[in-house]
Amino acid sequence: MNRSITTLTAVLLIIFSTTVSCECTKGKRASSFEVEYQWTFINFTWENENTYNDAVTTKRYIPENNAMAGIKFYKDTFYIAMPRICEGTPVTLGYISTSDTTPKSESLISPFPDWNTNDLTNHTCDKLENVQSMEIDADGIMWVLDGFRKPTSKCPPKLVLYDLNNEAKVVQSFTFPEEISLSKGGFLNDLVVDDSDGGFAYITEHGSVDPGIVVYSRAQNHAWKIRDASMFAEIDATNFVVDEVVFNKLAPVDGIALSPRNPSGPRQLYYCALTGVNLYSISTEILKDETACSGGEWRVNVTHIGAKSAQSDGMVVDNTGVLYYGLLPLYGVGSWNSSGSFEDAGVVYANNGTMIWTDSFSFDDKGYLYLLANNIHKYFLTQCAFDSTEPYVKFRILKHFTGTQSYLH
Ligand SMILES: *[C@@H]1O[C@H](CO)[C@@H](O)[C@H](O)[C@H]1NC(C)=O
Ligand SMILES: *[C@@H]1O[C@H](CO)[C@@H](O)[C@H](O)[C@H]1NC(C)=O
Ligand SMILES: *[C@@H]1O[C@H](CO)[C@@H](O)[C@H](O)[C@H]1NC(C)=O
Ligand SMILES: *[C@@H]1O[C@H](CO)[C@@H](O)[C@H](O)[C@H]1NC(C)=O
Ligand SMILES: *[C@@H]1O[C@H](CO)[C@@H](O)[C@H](O)[C@H]1NC(C)=O
Repeated sequence: MNRSITTLTAVLLIIFSTTVSCECTKGKRASSFEVEYQWTFINFTWENENTYNDAVTTKRYIPENNAMAGIKFYKDTFYIAMPRICEGTPVTLGYISTSDTTPKSESLISPFPDWNTNDLTNHTCDKLENVQSMEIDADGIMWVLDGFRKPTSKCPPKLVLYDLNNEAKVVQSFTFPEEISLSKGGFLNDLVVDDSDGGFAYITEHGSVDPGIVVYSRAQNHAWKIRDASMFAEIDATNFVVDEVVFNKLAPVDGIALSPRNPSGPRQLYYCALTGVNLYSISTEILKDETACSGGEWRVNVTHIGAKSAQSDGMVVDNTGVLYYGLLPLYGVGSWNSSGSFEDAGVVYANNGTMIWTDSFSFDDKGYLYLLANNIHKYFLTQCAFDSTEPYVKFRILKHFTGTQSYLH
């Protein structure tokens, strides 16, 4: 990380932002992704000073080892997934209030739903062990994917549904069996929610042993899985560089996005491997049918959409059918209007000072698209042995005006 370049970029950004804000006064929209929140280290709203001091002394909390991987907005709150990649990570799911008047830098994160559910001291499987992502449906139900499992993990991966409009009560919970996701080494990475036919979640299994797409039916409280070569890593897409760190893994299916409801046909599920550039889709009509998924005939229905200009982690579709995806080594975000040809896909914005590892997306209810850029590859690749103790900004939530909403609406 070249700090002087970052500073220069920051200066240029300020000049650029000034120009943009002039245009805004004439009624035009900013096309950049502007930093809204940023963190050098993640810290929490501790119960009291003793608890904080004790956590630091016992290394239950090692500030530089805490990282963010997923964001979702709902009713003036950002929910934040913090996978426990390394030691000293006391909270795996938290939130910040956007109506807070505190500076939008180093905001303290509160545990969700509470400290106890995040505390693994006496590890029971009803605790939140390692949350990688979540989705919040139109009814305010947050589908939390507690699905990242290390070789030392004790509890199988699970999906827990919390009602955000009713004191964060658990309304449903499902534990994935071994044949779908391994309790040691499984990695349920990201999900989208489909409100049709009693509710479905489509989930990427990113674990290297058995990658695929997992379908969960809320009505049946049951899950199944499909596997296909389109979900594997692409060997010639490895060794890409983000902020001077080479990503040298063969990382399978990861990014996932769902098209909005469409009267003219079933919704499409989009997916791509992290180590890969090709984008694929499959109809939810097939995914929702467990019998259809159990044979191999559905493979003819996998559609190759096209080759992106770079590798991606997170993706999202808005309610008009525009797909947004991170372009990791280009420090940018790409977009494609799914009504047209993929040849018309383009880069929305790029910034190598602020958009380092473009990861998770979320829409708010005012026409903004948010992006979490999080340096997460450094945590995964080095097991936190990188220069994380150096005080530079590692996590940013950036905002961009689209005038649209999430695919859920
Ligand atoms: C972390 O937050 C607590 C308040 O919850 C505060 O007392 C403490 O000083 C903070 N630590 C750092 C390093 O900022
Ligand atoms: C863990 O369990 C022990 C024994 O049941 C109990 O005394 C202790 O309070 C528990 N700690 C936490 C943090 O739940
Ligand atoms: C899957 O592909 C077959 C063969 O092209 C086609 O007949 C069928 O309608 C497709 N199914 C869906 C749900 O798109
Ligand atoms: C996407 O393409 C369709 C069909 O060409 C068009 O009607 C629509 O306005 C486009 N959407 C955006 C956001 O450009
Ligand atoms: C960032 O972009 C600037 C301007 O395009 C370029 O000069 C610089 O080398 C880039 N830095 C990195 C780390 O890619």
